[in-house]
Amino acid sequence: MDNKFEILPSELRTWQGREEWFFNRDHTDTYEQWYEGRYKRAEIWQKRVMEQLVKSDPRVQKLLEFGCGTTRFSRWWKEIGIDATGGDISPLMLSQARHLFSGDLVNADSHHMPFKDHTFDSLAFITTFEYYKDPVAVIRESARVAKYGIAFGMMNRNTTKYIRRRVQQMFGKNPFYVTANFYTPKSLIAVIDEALEGRDYSIQWTCTGLPKRFPVQQWHVPIGDFFGLYVRFNDVES
Ligand SMILES: C[S@@+](CC[C@H](N)C(=O)[O-])C[C@H]1O[C@@H](n2cnc3c(N)ncnc32)[C@H](O)[C@@H]1O
Repeated sequence: MDNKFEILPSELRTWQGREEWFFNRDHTDTYEQWYEGRYKRAEIWQKRVMEQLVKSDPRVQKLLEFGCGTTRFSRWWKEIGIDATGGDISPLMLSQARHLFSGDLVNADSHHMPFKDHTFDSLAFITTFEYYKDPVAVIRESARVAKYGIAFGMMNRNTTKYIRRRVQQMFGKNPFYVTANFYTPKSLIAVIDEALEGRDYSIQWTCTGLPKRFPVQQWHVPIGDFFGLYVRFNDVES
């Protein structure tokens, strides 16, 4: 790979003066390191629940992951036999992604995906949906571009860490959640139901991100740091 080429010159530290952390190189250039440290165990469980959910629908072979960031998940789908393409709004995150992922990447906003109807079997959003300004529009856009389903993996509002995140943010110690809106499985389902009115679909979800010594690491109780949710369309022919 040609490492001399960059999407943005490295001197450019921020993008269009926007306040979100993913437009600031101080955060995007260190994003991958986060998950190499104390979040490693969390990531293993996140992948485990996402695999169970997406693999429950054997029609999913080709997936578009929007908000792919540095491709922490996009490069993993292949390991479970799914062909993935990544999309993200941030040229700074994609500057990292292009060195780490061999699949196709697109720079675009999830609210306006530059793909024809039913180009992919499923959409996937991993810890990105929290940032969307019009979640109903994004789900409708996903249902246009994906034929069989939509997978969500996100930080849960029902966790003790929620208070910690907001307090850190109040004291200017956490730039990551300033523009984030946290969901629970129930509040996400309410948005999905509004967006997909008139469609026939089923939903399954599971939570993880429980304390290390807790007897289970995954359950169908809406408590835990992270939850995965899959929407399966029942009104399309295979
Ligand atoms: C917390 S990161 C998650 C990245 C990756 N999915 C992961 O799990 O490591 C959130 C990502 O969402 C992207 N994002 C935020 N708003 C977006 C939008 N409207 N359209 C596309 N991507 C967006 C950001 O640029 C960022 O890369």
